[in-house]
Amino acid sequence: MFTKFKVIDDFLKLEHFNFLINLKLDQIKKEEIKIYNNTYFENGKIEKSCLDNNFINNLHKTYHEQVLKLLKELYPEKFNLWEYSEFHIIETGSKYKYPIHRDTPYKLLSGVIYLSPKINKGTILYEDKNGTSEKVIDWKQNRALFFSRKENNSFHSYEGDNISTRRALVYNLMTTKLRKICKIEKINYTKVKIREFLNPYIYRCFRKVL
Ligand SMILES: [Fe+2]
Repeated sequence: MFTKFKVIDDFLKLEHFNFLINLKLDQIKKEEIKIYNNTYFENGKIEKSCLDNNFINNLHKTYHEQVLKLLKELYPEKFNLWEYSEFHIIETGSKYKYPIHRDTPYKLLSGVIYLSPKINKGTILYEDKNGTSEKVIDWKQNRALFFSRKENNSFHSYEGDNISTRRALVYNLMTTKLRKICKIEKINYTKVKIREFLNPYIYRCFRKVL
């Protein structure tokens, strides 16, 4: 079974949702994906691409307490490890498929909020790495899906619907404390560290994630 998750409809306030769906971004090809990184750090520092400082601050101020509460509910042992939040905008081409993967252990809470268009395909959850018991969290504008990764039961993927480019806001609570995470999850630190190091290369060459 996929680990505990939460689906929340109408997650973003309308002003934020409307701003994000109307944001002018580069046109991408059907087979492409484009990720715009925006990060808010614990000390207030911001790294951004397609959003401005005010907007990122505003997102953090508005939703941080709510998502921390979700983390507390979904994986209480990880609650105290938060260091930064990601507000990435991901544009997925209609023919693009991101392979089945578990998220990096640096992610305490993984969140996706479906933005546009009105009809597309939602995130797919699986029981295991082979894609058993596929379950799609249906696409609905402003619907959020949150979960806290676990080594063996948080496999998921996403893809375009063959018709239009899919825009989503990925909202993650993050840490750099990998040793602590490995202790909590009872997984081997060295093995995980090597896997995390290799994954970007393996993805680039083989479109697979370890
Ligand atoms: Fe993921």
